Amino acid sequence: MTILVTGGAGFIGSHTCVELLNAGYEIIVLDNFSNSSPKSLERVKELTNKNFKIYNLDILEKFNVEKVFEENDITAVIHFAGLKAVGESVEIPIHYYYNNITGTLNLIDIMRKYKIFKIVFSSSATVYGMPKQVPISENSPLSAMNPYGRTKLMIEEILNDVYTSNNNWSIALLRYFNPIGAHESGRIGENPNGIPNNLMPFITQVAIGKLNELKVFGNDYSTSDGTGVRDYIHVVDLAKGHLKALEKVINFNGVEAYNLGTGQGYSVLEMIDAFEKVSGRKVPYSIASRRPGDIGECFADPTKAEKELGWKAEKGIKEMCIDSWKWQSQNPNGFLDKESIVDYANALA
Ligand code: WQD
Repeated sequence: MTILVTGGAGFIGSHTCVELLNAGYEIIVLDNFSNSSPKSLERVKELTNKNFKIYNLDILEKFNVEKVFEENDITAVIHFAGLKAVGESVEIPIHYYYNNITGTLNLIDIMRKYKIFKIVFSSSATVYGMPKQVPISENSPLSAMNPYGRTKLMIEEILNDVYTSNNNWSIALLRYFNPIGAHESGRIGENPNGIPNNLMPFITQVAIGKLNELKVFGNDYSTSDGTGVRDYIHVVDLAKGHLKALEKVINFNGVEAYNLGTGQGYSVLEMIDAFEKVSGRKVPYSIASRRPGDIGECFADPTKAEKELGWKAEKGIKEMCIDSWKWQSQNPNGFLDKESIVDYANALA
């Protein structure tokens, strides 16, 4: 059974490829490497001792993407490819709508043509906007707050309409909460371009001395210590959730959304404390003003995924911090070449 993984070189994509290969699936990866490195796929091959085809393609290249379907006997698609920086989406919304929406329309139109109706879509908890209450369940109101989140919400609507038009489709919409951590080997992990937007890669770059201090965006939320609370989930748990969703779409028709979170929230200060304990590194921080668009508290009710997919997150915050730190300390410059690391070491000396 061959699974096409779009965006398979990315943070969640690469970890999902490891789990797919270890579970015995054949995979094909399609990625334009605009926000990822081919190195991550080399390491996926190293970790699994498996080989697979890689197409260096953009989902906007519809003609070339169709060739992938011509050349391969694809059973289902796991669709990660897309732009995902909230702040950037506010600055360049047209690029985000064009890339994420048109790219996905290309993909599902080709799937329709080749009668491949099974897809797992990488959505996000950002589709819940400002949640009225927590924990958040799948039937909580949907209202994205930024162009990135709106692309995810629109694609969910498009996929619902596609199912209504043809009940042969089998669609899982996976709403991720906050993925962090890394494969236990430390060989693959989160590799953001430039200054990280997200909390954990920022913390780990402070811990290795690449960044000076963490700015904590607000300590006046109505949470236990005033700082933002999120549902952090280990990326390997998240990857395993994709395999369960794949099993589901292979065996059912319909369209279903699932929250992939732990159901447990942690504040920014709790994350700093947990990370310092496992890494033995101090993470200097200062309190800054709230980040526009941020919400105070967000964590999942993950019971639907547990009931219908037989999936539940297993790794706790300590393991998430240990694995994040192992990846970052072993790869100070992510997937960049050794030379760059030597330059970096010299720069630090
Ligand atoms: C977590 C907490 C910040 C950085 C985003 C996207 C979401 C998904 C995950 C794609 C918040 C605080 C952060 C920093 C801080 N991405 N923080 N200082 O915003 O919950 O979710 O990433 O699907 O769509 O919205 O994650 O890691 O940016 O922030 O204080 O330098 O850490 O205020 O409370 P977020 P995050």
